[in-house]
Amino acid sequence: MLDAIGKSAKEQLRLQVLEGGSEDVWIEVIQKMDEVYTELIQSQTELEAKNASLEEAHAFIGSVLGAMTDILVACDADARIQQVNRALETISGRREHELLGMPVVEIFDAESKDAVSGFLHTIRAGGQVSECEVSLVGCGQQKALISVNCSPRRDHRGKLVGMVIVGRPVGELRRAYRELDVAHQKLTQTQQQLLVSEKMAALGRLVAGVAHELNNPISFVFGNMYALRRYGSAITQYLEACNSDMSRDELQVLRRELKIDKVLSDIAPLVEGTLEGAERVRDIVQDLRRFSSNQKETPESFNAVRLVQTAADWVVKAQRVKPEVRFKTPDTLEMTGLKGQLHQIIVNLVQNAADVLVDCQDPFIEISCAREGGEIVFRVADNGTGIPENRIDKIFEPFFTTKPIGTGTGLGLYVSYNMAMKQGGDLTVANRPEGGAEFTLRIPANDVAAD
Ligand SMILES: Nc1ncnc2c1ncn2[C@@H]1O[C@H](COP(=O)(O)OP(=O)(O)O)[C@@H](O)[C@H]1O
Ligand SMILES: [Mg+2]
Repeated sequence: MLDAIGKSAKEQLRLQVLEGGSEDVWIEVIQKMDEVYTELIQSQTELEAKNASLEEAHAFIGSVLGAMTDILVACDADARIQQVNRALETISGRREHELLGMPVVEIFDAESKDAVSGFLHTIRAGGQVSECEVSLVGCGQQKALISVNCSPRRDHRGKLVGMVIVGRPVGELRRAYRELDVAHQKLTQTQQQLLVSEKMAALGRLVAGVAHELNNPISFVFGNMYALRRYGSAITQYLEACNSDMSRDELQVLRRELKIDKVLSDIAPLVEGTLEGAERVRDIVQDLRRFSSNQKETPESFNAVRLVQTAADWVVKAQRVKPEVRFKTPDTLEMTGLKGQLHQIIVNLVQNAADVLVDCQDPFIEISCAREGGEIVFRVADNGTGIPENRIDKIFEPFFTTKPIGTGTGLGLYVSYNMAMKQGGDLTVANRPEGGAEFTLRIPANDVAAD
């Protein structure tokens, strides 16, 4: 077009020059015009080339933005939307023309608005927003959870002119993971409750044994108190006689009759015995309280021998068919640990042994404890049926039980194993060559002797 106009103008000039005389001047003018014209053509060509590459760049950016699965929102310095990509249109369910100019917070749900309003502020303060989880209000008011990063947008002079938000929908997997996490938490809670109920069930089974245990000291406290009452009245009677006008000989006779000398020598051991009985009752109640408590225990020093004896007594005394219990222990064995938990483990092991021995000939349970290096090792063995090899790996699993519903929970060994592990110990099982099972519990002694 420019070319066509150029040619006809030049032709006209040449005609005018030929008509009007001084040819040289006109030739010069024409040459100048030619030059100007060439320059014009050149800059036009350049302009067209620049335009084409600009369009190409524009199309390229458009195609990149369109191909992005992440959402992109460019905002101005007032946090109004200036540019969006197709992913945002798809997720938000709004067209580009609806979104442009809108305050960016409006595309997010109410709970996310505060966080999004703070983005610009953070950026102005020189901060960064990364991996912030917010919800977009999507089509039909459905929410789309996205994880966004936000960076400052600057002009060619480096002045802050807005921000760019890039976000990735938190995928199905992540959502599923969260749901799984919640379910897991619920399961842990339920499991915790189950552990408590297992403990309470064990306690229920033990009550008869504990009652029997309490009965012994209580009955001898009673016996002693009756004797002390008798002794008291004899002494009172004798003292009253001393204050009367009885002769010395008469008093001697009365003293013999009332066995005052025996009474006086008996008082100290009787009081001692009564105190011992009361202390025993107190200890049993303390053990019971520790057993039933759900509170966190702190390590304490105690005699492991007494602990196994009490635990076994509680179980065996509650059994209808009482197996013989053989203790193979030193006289005392001091250790430091979680006494209540240890008691519970031994109770569980002895209870299992007693359960399996119900229909056995000459049932016995052999319980030993000894120091082996830095550990205290407890062994609970029985002459029951043993554990079939295909079950031996399963018995520590939660809910594994071979007992009828209502009898077994399948949690006893699971709980025991976990308690042993938490104390830095271990609980294992093996079948004895001569028949029956043997459980071995190893617990760090945690005391000076062990060091
Ligand atoms: N001494 C044992 N002899 C034979 N089997 C045992 C013995 N101790 C435990 N078991 C087996 O391990 C299973 C799991 O025991 P446990 O976790 O205490 O749960 P529960 O006693 O409620 O069944 C028992 O049901 C039983 O089959
Ligand atoms: Mg059990």
